[in-house]
This record gives sequence, C-alpha cells and structure tokens, in this order.
Amino acid sequence: MLSARKGEKMAYSNEKYFMISNRDKVPAPGYGTYLIDNETTRKAVKEALDLGYRHIDTAAFYQNEEGVGQGLKDSALRREDVFVVSKAWNDHRGYDKVKQACQNSLEKLGLDYLDLYLLHWPANAVEYPDTWSEVNQDSWRAMIDLYKEGKVKAIGVSNFLPDQLDPLMKMEIVPMVNQIEFHPGCTWPDTYAYCKKHGILIEAWSPLGRGRLLQDPDLMAIALGHHKSIAQVCIRYALQKNVLPLVKSSHPERMRENFDVFDFELSDHEMEIIDNFEGKYPASRDPRTTVLK
Ligand SMILES: NC(=O)c1ccc[n+]([C@@H]2O[C@H](COP(=O)([O-])OP(=O)(O)OC[C@H]3O[C@@H](n4cnc5c(N)ncnc54)[C@H](OP(=O)(O)O)[C@@H]3O)[C@@H](O)[C@H]2O)c1
Repeated sequence: MLSARKGEKMAYSNEKYFMISNRDKVPAPGYGTYLIDNETTRKAVKEALDLGYRHIDTAAFYQNEEGVGQGLKDSALRREDVFVVSKAWNDHRGYDKVKQACQNSLEKLGLDYLDLYLLHWPANAVEYPDTWSEVNQDSWRAMIDLYKEGKVKAIGVSNFLPDQLDPLMKMEIVPMVNQIEFHPGCTWPDTYAYCKKHGILIEAWSPLGRGRLLQDPDLMAIALGHHKSIAQVCIRYALQKNVLPLVKSSHPERMRENFDVFDFELSDHEMEIIDNFEGKYPASRDPRTTVLK
C-alpha cells in the first residue's frame, strides 16, 4: 500500500491508494481538471473514470464543477466509488463565505458530500499584513464544521507552507491534506518535511510541471531505461516520494499513459538524480508573496 503515515517508507506495490489521517483511502493517481471548460470536462471525467481513475480534482476557481458532476453521472459508477475533491477560492475567505463556497460547489457538482474539501490558497502577509493568520483560522473553522456536519469527509489546504500551516495545527482538527506544486525540480523540502512529520498527506499539483519537464534530457534517459515516457517517470517520482499525483490531460491516450505507472519502479539512484534537480524547475508561484484574485 502507498501510505502517507508518519515515518513510514513507501513500499512498491500495485495498490493505488494513499491513506489520510482520518483513515480514508485516497485513490492514486488523481485526475486533474484545471484549464478545461465544462463540456470538455464532462467528457474527460467520464473518459478518466472509464480508464480506471477513481479520484477527480476540481475547484470553484476552475469553473467546471458542473462538467465534473455531469461526467460522474455519465459514468455508471456509484458515488461511493469515486473520490471527489473541490476547493474554496480566495473570494470566499472567512467562516461564512467558506461555508457558502462549499454549498455552491456541492450544488454545481450535484452531490450531497465531497470526499475532500480544501482551502485553495492561503491568505498571506502581502494581502493581509496583520491578520493573515486569523483570516486562515477563521476559514479553517468553517472547514472543521463542514467536516463535523458530514458535508465533507476530509479537510485540507492547498499551497500552505509551514508558517501558514502552524496556526491551523493549533486548532481542534488539523489539515489532513496539503495540495502543493510538486514535480522534479520543485519539491518544497521544508513543506515536505513538515507535512510528513505531522502526518499530512501531500498531493502533487502539476506533477509534470504542466508540460515543462517533458523535454528534459536526464528524465528522458531514465524514461528510456524503463521503456516509459517522461510523464510516467514524473508520476512515478511523486508516488515514490509518497506524494499523491494529480495529473491532467484532455487526451484519452495520455490519460491512459498517465495511469499506467504501476509496473515499474525508479531505483534509489534514479530517485537521487531527480532529487538533485531541486531548483532546476522552480515553482510557478510562491504562496508567501503571491496574491491571487
Ligand atoms: N491546488 C492548486 O493550486 C492547483 C494548481 C494547479 C493545478 N492543480 C490541480 O493539479 C492538476 C494537474 O496540474 P496541471 O494541470 O497544472 O499540470 P500537469 O498535470 O503537470 O500537466 C498538464 C499538462 O501536461 C500535458 N500532458 C499531460 N499528460 C501528458 C503526457 N502523458 N504526455 C505529454 N503531455 C502531457 C497536458 O496536455 P493535454 O491536456 O493536451 O494532454 C497539459 O498541458 C490540475 O489539473 C488541477 O486539478 C491544483
């Protein structure tokens, strides 16, 4: 099993699940839906589910939650067989607005619960110089209540770095997941160590660097050695770092390729080569300084 439990080293296995601290199983890889319109999303989600994906990642910000909901309905799967994630956007911060954001997402998706709900981006010191910590705590209080009410089965954050996680770690229920940009060259070592120490499951967004990594000669050499593609090596890298990859493609053949990552393993030496990429493909934005509207 691919487990995110504290201190555990991931063992290679064909099982495609991670665990979160509330003991829920999370299927991997997840299918990402950023930058796809509603109609394309509907078809892509159905296609992804047909191919075997059981984890769909969307967000209010993507404006395609209706498409995700329709894709889920088009598939013959039972609700409980698919892990559905959405996120509260930055125009919905604070207790009341986060609760409203969740309700809006449920309605658009046509669901009565989410498997995981995330705060999409932290309030930071650039946008809220004196109150960023309180703003995040106030939003998080709503997440705790949504969890207690059963509207969401698990709660987490996205793009939170250790300083931004600290205030939430003092609260009654702490984040179970942190979804961050994560790919060769960008692994946020401090955040990675923090999440591992506190048993927070890390999910990788842009595990392919949104395509930036797909010409890298060192990754190409590793991929050729396994008769795999660079995309598959990047996805495998996340899995072996015990990080749950969320990968997006709107092409069925690539969706299939991105799911076909359980019949090979990167060696310790190959993992070390990729670890040494740190800084080569830097993060696309920094949550400490970037204000997103
Ligand atoms: N929480 C956050 O702040 C946040 C931010 C960004 C993303 N995300 C989530 O993470 C998901 C994945 O991230 P992402 O979409 O930014 O980037 P990504 O999955 O790293 O890369 C997607 C890009 O790579 C291409 N691609 C996918 N598979 C490929 C393959 N096998 N061979 C060649 N090209 C391939 C796709 O093109 P085609 O579609 O044309 O195949 C697309 O242009 C998102 O969809 C979203 O759900 C979250």
